[in-house]
Amino acid sequence: MICAGTHCYLMGGAELQLFHEYLPVHLRDHVMVTGSPCLGVCDCEGSGKPPFVMVNGRTIEQATIQSLLEVVKEELEN
Ligand code: FES
Repeated sequence: MICAGTHCYLMGGAELQLFHEYLPVHLRDHVMVTGSPCLGVCDCEGSGKPPFVMVNGRTIEQATIQSLLEVVKEELEN
C-alpha cells in the first residue's frame, strides 16, 4: 500500500504512485498495488522518513521504486 498523503507525496512518493508500471511483467499478476490517503505513520516518532509504503505489513521508509522492487521480490520469495 503506497501512501499518497501530502507529506509522503511531497517527499518522493509521487513517483511511487506509478510503481505497478515498474514491476516486471511476470510479477504484475502476483502483486496488488493500492494507495492510501495516509498510512498513519508520518506523525509517529521513530517511524522513519517518508515516503512510506506498507508491504505485507512491513513499513518501508524512504521508499523508492528500486527499494520497493527489492522488498516485493523478497516477499514473493518467502
Ligand atoms: S502522509 Fe504518508 S504516512 Fe501519513
